[in-house]
Amino acid sequence: MESPLFKRHRRLRGSAAIRGLVRENELTPSHLIYPLFVDAGLSGRRPIEAMPGQDQLGLDALAAEARELAGLDIPAVLLFGLPSYKDERGSSAWARDGVVQQAIGRLKEANPEVLVVGDVCLCEYTSHGHCGLVRADGSVDNDASLPLLAEMSVSLAEAGCDVIAPSDMMDGRVGAIRLALDSAGFSETPILSYAAKFASAFYGPFREAAGSAPAFGDRRGYQMDPANARMAVDEVLTDVAEGADMVMVKPALPYLDVLRSVRDSVDVPVAAYNVSGEYSMLMAAAERGWLDGPRAIDETLTAIRRAGADMIITYHAKDWARRR
Ligand code: PBG
Repeated sequence: MESPLFKRHRRLRGSAAIRGLVRENELTPSHLIYPLFVDAGLSGRRPIEAMPGQDQLGLDALAAEARELAGLDIPAVLLFGLPSYKDERGSSAWARDGVVQQAIGRLKEANPEVLVVGDVCLCEYTSHGHCGLVRADGSVDNDASLPLLAEMSVSLAEAGCDVIAPSDMMDGRVGAIRLALDSAGFSETPILSYAAKFASAFYGPFREAAGSAPAFGDRRGYQMDPANARMAVDEVLTDVAEGADMVMVKPALPYLDVLRSVRDSVDVPVAAYNVSGEYSMLMAAAERGWLDGPRAIDETLTAIRRAGADMIITYHAKDWARRR
């Protein structure tokens, strides 16, 4: 018999059974975190126009939401708050009866098993919409912002938050938050740091969802330049050294190379945030019949896993889990 002149790769693609045997990456609901936008002034649900299929939720809508997620085996939520008031310092972020603090109670009451991740950032709570304290000249004051972020973190932990996830991109915040949590008796509460967070156009729809667009300027002074991949690894190593238990790359799809580098550079678990703009562009194309939505969603989430994500924060979570 003659030896073949080429390798027959297709031998391993002939049936669903053999494709299953050789599949390298798997996606299950246990890898997914579902973001929730909780509005203090809302009763029921309000659709987010720029994110078809996603709603802002009133506190009274959370119990049903928690039960629905449990039914779909989605283990975790990421909470964003639309507070009842905003000020220069973002003080509603650490109010005992703040919207997220109350939301945690409602969710846990309905499903004690749900893992609650709290987004720590001031942009939803400040009148100017920046992620930290703003000086008279409009610049963001890194060091003065740290105690406020730490206070917000402790307040969320006191309300029952399971994981603290700082997304503000101030330097030194992971260390400051770790110290504050430990001093307040929360040494067992893990930190998931938005370590490599880029100044991205793909956050567009989120700013409608969370009402957090900056009133002036932009976030390029603190979020990363999209051109930089090596620097992302440096950010990640810094956060791990300060005590981050898990790190995140955000956005996901335009940054899969960064995700891979980060995965190869650290041994802590890595999360990827499949952000609002990634969601909306796919949904818009699917709505017009330009893409097969379910297949594109499945391929997207699988690609993010393949690039190195242990867990994925995604607005597709419920939809994907329902079809499974
Ligand atoms: C808060 C925050 C943002 C997102 C998550 N946390 C917005 C921003 O940084 O401008 C974006 C999430 C998304 O687009 O889905 N800092």
